Amino acid sequence: MSSWKFNTLAIHAGQEPDPVTGAVMPPIYQTSTFRQRAVGEHLGYEYSRTGNPTRTALEVNLAALEGGYRALAFASGMAATDAVLHLLSPGDSILAVSDLYGGTFRILEQVFRRYGMEIEFARDLPEAAGRSDPSLIWIETPTNPMLKLYDIEQICAWAGTLSPRPLVCVDNTFATPYLQQPLMLGADLVLHSTTKYLGGHSDVVGGALVVREAELAERLSFLQNAVGGVPGPFDCFLVLRGIKTLPLRMERHAENALAVANDLAERSQVQQIFYPGLEADPQIELARRQMRNGGGMVSFIHAGGPEKARAFVEATELFTLAESLGGVESLIEIPALMTHASTQDSPLAVDPALIRLSVGLEAIDDLLEDLDRAFQASS
Ligand SMILES: Cc1ncc(COP(=O)(O)O)c(C=O)c1O
Repeated sequence: MSSWKFNTLAIHAGQEPDPVTGAVMPPIYQTSTFRQRAVGEHLGYEYSRTGNPTRTALEVNLAALEGGYRALAFASGMAATDAVLHLLSPGDSILAVSDLYGGTFRILEQVFRRYGMEIEFARDLPEAAGRSDPSLIWIETPTNPMLKLYDIEQICAWAGTLSPRPLVCVDNTFATPYLQQPLMLGADLVLHSTTKYLGGHSDVVGGALVVREAELAERLSFLQNAVGGVPGPFDCFLVLRGIKTLPLRMERHAENALAVANDLAERSQVQQIFYPGLEADPQIELARRQMRNGGGMVSFIHAGGPEKARAFVEATELFTLAESLGGVESLIEIPALMTHASTQDSPLAVDPALIRLSVGLEAIDDLLEDLDRAFQASS
C-alpha cells in the first residue's frame, strides 16, 4: 500500500473488500457495542466510542493520505481542535497565526484561556513571534478567510530550534492532503474539518487529526475515547465516499477558482483579491513550493464597502449564501457577519466588506455570469 500513488490511496487505503460478505464499500457498522465471547475476548472492538470498524476504515485512509502514522476521526473539526488543546496544561502557552477560522479563535479565547492557557496571535511566523516558549504552534495555511500562506517547513525548522520543542499543528482543511502534506514538511499533527473538501458534498460534519508519531497518537487516542467527541459510522462512511473523488474535485475546484480570481482581478468593483494561485499574488512562489495548486477558495474586498458587499452576496443565485465550504456546489458568505463573527472587535477582526467564495464544480461560464449579475445588482 505504501507505494501506491495518492489517487489510488484515496480509493483503496483502509478499504479492502469486507472479509465476511465481499462488500466493496466498507459496511456502515451501525452498532454501539460488540459481543465478547468471554470477558475481554473479542474481535478487536468493544464499544463504538472506543472504536468502530467504519471509523477505522476512515482513519486508516486519512493516515495514508497525509503520510501519517495514525489518524483519529472526530465528530467535527472543532472536536478535533478540542482534543489537541487538551494535550496542554494550565500555564502552557499557544502561539497561533492571527488569521484563522473564527471557531478556532473562539475556542482559544473563550474556552481554553479560562483554563489558564496563554495565547498569543502572530501575523508573521516565525518572524513576529513574541515569545520563544510556546508548547503548541497553531498554523492554518491557506488561512480562513484571507488565504494567507505560512511556510510550514520554515516554521517547523524554527520550532526545532526552541527548547523544549513545541508541537506544531497545521489545520489543513483548506488545502487537503491532495494539495499539501504538512507532516512531510515537519509538522507533528494535521487537523481537518472533514465537513469541507474531504466530505466534499455538504452532507456531513466531521473532523480528524493525523499524527506522525506513535506516542502522540496514543495520547490523542486516549483523549478521543475519554472525551468522546467521535463521529457515527454513517458519517464516517460519507467522508470515506467523498474522499474517493478528492483528487478529481480538487483539480476542478482550483481550475474554476483560478478563472473566478482572474475575472475578479479585472473588475473595478474589487478593491483587493486573495487567491494563492494568481500569478500576481505576492505568495505565488511559496504556493508553488508548498501546494499542488491554489485550491478552491477565493476572497475579495468589495470596493463599495460593507453595504455593497451585503447586496452582492444576496444577489447571487448559483453561489448559495451559506456558511461552510468545500462542497461541489459554490457558496458565498461575508466572514465578518457569518463564519468569523466571533472575531468582531478583536485584533483578528476581518474587513466587513470581505466576501469569501467557495468555488464549486459548476460550469465556469455559469459561475462567472452569476458573479457578473451580482456586481450589476450591487453597483
Ligand atoms: C479552517 C477550519 N478549521 C476548522 C473548522 C471547524 O470545523 P467544523 O465546522 O467541522 O467543526 C472550520 C470550519 O469552518 C474551518 O474552516
